[in-house]
Amino acid sequence: MILPIVAYGDPVLRKVAKNIDANYPKIKELIENMKETMYNASGVGLAAPQIGKDIRLFVIDASPFSENEELEEEERAFLKDFNQVFINAKIIEEEGEEWEFNEGCLSIPNINEDVSRNETIHIKYLDENFEEKEETLGGLAARIFQHEYDHIEGILFTDKLSSLKKRLLKKKLENISKGKVDVAYRMRFPNLKK
Ligand code: NI
Repeated sequence: MILPIVAYGDPVLRKVAKNIDANYPKIKELIENMKETMYNASGVGLAAPQIGKDIRLFVIDASPFSENEELEEEERAFLKDFNQVFINAKIIEEEGEEWEFNEGCLSIPNINEDVSRNETIHIKYLDENFEEKEETLGGLAARIFQHEYDHIEGILFTDKLSSLKKRLLKKKLENISKGKVDVAYRMRFPNLKK
């Protein structure tokens, strides 16, 4: 089932999300619905707050980036299979140089800005079977993880922009929260004006 994606301005996007355990109601169904919602919106990641749930769960499928010819072949091969569910994720350590990448977000349609993030992350999480995993991610895989991880911490990529950029985007962001935006997938707007 495709779920409506919560738009910028909704308080659920600002909550620090809570850990869950294997008894969380209908977790398998929720994960399937989140994946379907992400694919329907052509996203590479979707976090639970974006469908209105303040829990530490996100899904990533980076395979669209495997066709990006600007990337090294090795990274493209990795991204092709980087399709995972992350529960109760934690970043243990971030390192390496910061680099910029043009990010977007399904909750903030039609806005794309360069965001600076660390190159490498060491992470811990539970997979969809609630098995503990530990991994090191770099490059775009780390980037997508960091973006989704921010969502479960109540942080949006627009928070990371310069104050000038934020001022320039203020009106656009207000309009998104009011539903004054062209978007091809189903959304839920906090300040909808009819
Ligand atoms: Ni996002």
